[in-house]
Amino acid sequence: MEQDTAYAICRFSDIPSQRAIGFQLMIVGDDGAPRPWPIVIVRWGRQVFGYLNRCPHNGVNLDWERNQFLDTNGTKLLCGKHGSTFELGTGLGVDGPCKGQSLTPIALAVLDGDICVTGVTLVEDEDEACDEEA
Ligand code: FES
Repeated sequence: MEQDTAYAICRFSDIPSQRAIGFQLMIVGDDGAPRPWPIVIVRWGRQVFGYLNRCPHNGVNLDWERNQFLDTNGTKLLCGKHGSTFELGTGLGVDGPCKGQSLTPIALAVLDGDICVTGVTLVEDEDEACDEEA
């Protein structure tokens, strides 16, 4: 499988602006074995940002309650375990135990109205790959 394949995760319109949604995906690891790849996608106006859904502090999912990713102001990503907050656009930890550390960014592209991940090989089930040239 090619690394430059773009995999459609959801429609751009599925995520309202200033909201974040988690997806439990599987990728093919370097050793060829599938492994879980939880991600969070944030939409802010016309922009989308993607990060691994893994807190740099304890390695847990950020959303202690499912899909509760944002702080009370809705302007930062929040780890529900110990309250670290992260800039939406960069993933940089700005408060809490993760201050100065960063979430792991993932490459996203919006193609033909779909939010797609690129640069990895996903284990596909019913999700369809979308065309790079779209
Ligand atoms: S596990 Fe996220 S701040 Fe501690």
